[in-house]
Amino acid sequence: MPRVTVIGIGYLGLTHAVCLADLGHEVLAIDVDEEKIAKAANGEVPFFEPGLEPLLRKNLDSGRLRFTMSFADIGDFGDVHFLCVGTPEGESGRADLGFVYAAADALAPHLASACLIAGKSTVPVGTARQVLNRVRATAPAGQAVDVAWNPEFLREGFAVQDSLSPDRIVLGVTSGRAEALLREVYATPAAAGVPLLVTDLETAELVKVAANAFLATKISFINAMAEICEEAGADVIPLAEALGHDARIGRRFLSPGLGFGGGCLPKDVRAFRATASALGVDSVVSLLTTVDAINQGRRDRVVALARDTAGGTLAGQRVAVLGVAFKPDSDDVRDSASLAVCARLAAEGAIVSVHDPVAMPSAAKKQPGLVYAHSVPAAAEGADLVLHLTEWSDYRAIDPAALARVVARRVIIDARCCLDAALWTDAGWTVHMLGRSRGSRGTKLLEGSGGQEGSRARGHAGRSRPKGMSGGTGPQGVSGG
Ligand code: UDX
Repeated sequence: MPRVTVIGIGYLGLTHAVCLADLGHEVLAIDVDEEKIAKAANGEVPFFEPGLEPLLRKNLDSGRLRFTMSFADIGDFGDVHFLCVGTPEGESGRADLGFVYAAADALAPHLASACLIAGKSTVPVGTARQVLNRVRATAPAGQAVDVAWNPEFLREGFAVQDSLSPDRIVLGVTSGRAEALLREVYATPAAAGVPLLVTDLETAELVKVAANAFLATKISFINAMAEICEEAGADVIPLAEALGHDARIGRRFLSPGLGFGGGCLPKDVRAFRATASALGVDSVVSLLTTVDAINQGRRDRVVALARDTAGGTLAGQRVAVLGVAFKPDSDDVRDSASLAVCARLAAEGAIVSVHDPVAMPSAAKKQPGLVYAHSVPAAAEGADLVLHLTEWSDYRAIDPAALARVVARRVIIDARCCLDAALWTDAGWTVHMLGRSRGSRGTKLLEGSGGQEGSRARGHAGRSRPKGMSGGTGPQGVSGG
């Protein structure tokens, strides 16, 4: 079996290292961040990812997974070096490839014999070939060093599951030797029936950004439909259900609301647009410009709606925000649509009190000016307006009658379109739901249809509803956003 190294132990790299070790490989992982390495070697995962920490500990104990800070160590050790460093957003939306090239440059002098560098990071098309030329120019092994691209599609919150049983494995290669090595690395999932697709380097690089662009387009499409539903007196939720029953369309990634955020989709859409622009491909540029604009428009929409419900100004208004993570089951607030809305409400003079089951520490680092409340009732105490911005399952279990007793005004904006509007109106709330006709009581959601991807797929048996909430009456109304 080839010996494997993993370069960069962020979200992607640590998960990959742990999962490869769990598949039985000998793995040596490296990072330039000493603290990250110390934590990982001690069995600690520095971010919230269900199931990863026990698997890390198990594989540390087995001895199959080890960590180092020395490129000489990994150069000596590995037959296959997986490049898992970050590619953050750089100037004008372009991907910043600084970490990719720095890692390749640090590794190259230690490559004394034939080996393969397999990139997993999301990169602009053409990067793999640049890495290949660069490494061959300086590695002692020269032309015996090969480069492949093997994009990663894992979702936060499902990282282990997505790594161990992905929908597909894409191998962009330039030689039979590279393909053979990667087939060995992925022999177990391949034997379990995971489709393995072999392409050239450029196609593999493009598959990843095209997949993210398609997912983003799906979300912006349903959000555009939400806008027309509001104007036409229709309801986007049954519309999405009806569309989703068409097997050619599918229901997944058709959850309307505040739009997409996170460390991947927004930056990948912008980076892909920059690549398309550099290549002069106007169709892709205009498609992705629209997708991004619709997405940003959702944030504007929620801020405007909040302002309207407050009578035209947010100054001095007490706003309670439920959820700041970019999606449920995550503590990640990178490009969180919710946190962006919070910042804008605060900039307009609102007093913003936030609750999130796990993302408050990361949010507080980015937006220290908000009030962070330890519970939903504490966040909602005296609120003029409640905003539901990240659809944690906890929030669908809130008793609206109990919450009614602590707020100043019973007004809620459900920007994730997944609360039971009838339940809230029956408890005396005015409910504004994005994408629903004004005056509708909303459609009672079918079991399991509330919220997006993760919430729907997994359920949350472990999370209980906030305590001490019951009673209260007085129907009001639900309106489109
Ligand atoms: C995404 C891709 O799904 C994954 O394949 C890739 O490897 C990395 O980027 P992730 O960032 O973990 O994964 O989040 P994802 O579950 O895709 O959600 C992205 C954003 O879209 C979230 O803000 C989510 O709230 C939003 N979303 C998702 C919607 O608004 N509607 C939907 O129907 C689905």
